[in-house]
Amino acid sequence: MTTNFATAKRDLQNKGFLDLAVDPTLDLYKEFERLKNEKNAVILAHYYQESEIQDIADFIGDSLGLSQEAAKTGADIIVFAGVHFMAETAKILSPQKKVLLPDLKAGCSLADACPAPVFSKFKEKYPGHVVVSYVNTTAEMKTLTDICCTSTNAVQIIESIPEGQPIIFAPDINLGRYLVKKTGRDMVLWNGACMVHEIFSNEKITKLMLRHPKAELIAHPECEAPILEKAHFIGSTTGLLNYTVRSAATEFIVATEVGIIHQMEKCSPQKIFIPAPPDNICACNECPHMKRNTLEKLYLCMKYELPEIELPARVIKEARASIDRMLAVSAKAGL
Ligand code: 13P
Ligand code: SF4
Repeated sequence: MTTNFATAKRDLQNKGFLDLAVDPTLDLYKEFERLKNEKNAVILAHYYQESEIQDIADFIGDSLGLSQEAAKTGADIIVFAGVHFMAETAKILSPQKKVLLPDLKAGCSLADACPAPVFSKFKEKYPGHVVVSYVNTTAEMKTLTDICCTSTNAVQIIESIPEGQPIIFAPDINLGRYLVKKTGRDMVLWNGACMVHEIFSNEKITKLMLRHPKAELIAHPECEAPILEKAHFIGSTTGLLNYTVRSAATEFIVATEVGIIHQMEKCSPQKIFIPAPPDNICACNECPHMKRNTLEKLYLCMKYELPEIELPARVIKEARASIDRMLAVSAKAGL
């Protein structure tokens, strides 16, 4: 650690991740096991991570599952193979633990769409409103939030708020519109969107459904309304995965980030999964933030215990209540 520490620090400042050469002959899988045992570390990975990262993780899950795991883990170090807001949530829930993120620049277009200082001014215009924020927000934004939600528990979170209580929902307008329809609650919506889910092409999906008449369209609620309207099933990443296991269908058009297909294929090797096409010719159904993490960055991050997520004590204290409330409602709902 000492020889390369200065280089590591410089890399971190310039790039947001360690960029030291990793010996290509090194058995990284053995190294991960060694480092996990030596450091009492746990690797938590989101379904949108590269399949090779998912395969070495101790826990793979959606945003709710990852928060629940981060809250209860007995590990000293949480290595988060996901994006910045997820690692921040882990830090808020386990402030005494070291939380590492392989690349600090692994952000999220939804979190970026809702800067806390701007939201604070917006909130002033709606006195008496309860703020519900999708967990895809910065820690600072969570300090302005009454209760968080994820795509797994969003309906139950909205329904836990007394009828007649006005609500602001931020930052995902697509999830917000879906919730307005599903719960019948009239909410003030912030205008943010996920860069991956808003780019799916309604026209191409329609054609794909005609070419694959037996395939079921399954969609994440971050997708735009025309896609959700024609979906056979709408759910979080875990919800979609579970649905593909229990559905009698053998073919699925998957309207969410392609990383989830790895687990779908593992759970149902006999079924066919077709990634929903984006509205252009690039691979925009891959999240560029999630995909910043690589096995090498993950290895260096565990070895050097950098980059680490650090948050001011005030932020941890003020943001925590919104996540704790979400976890309490989820537990009550059996989620
Ligand atoms: P879930 O895994 O909670 O469904 O969230 C999807 C997502 O876009 C995470 O960034
Ligand atoms: Fe954010 Fe969308 Fe990427 Fe999820 S898939 S991290 S919501 S940009």
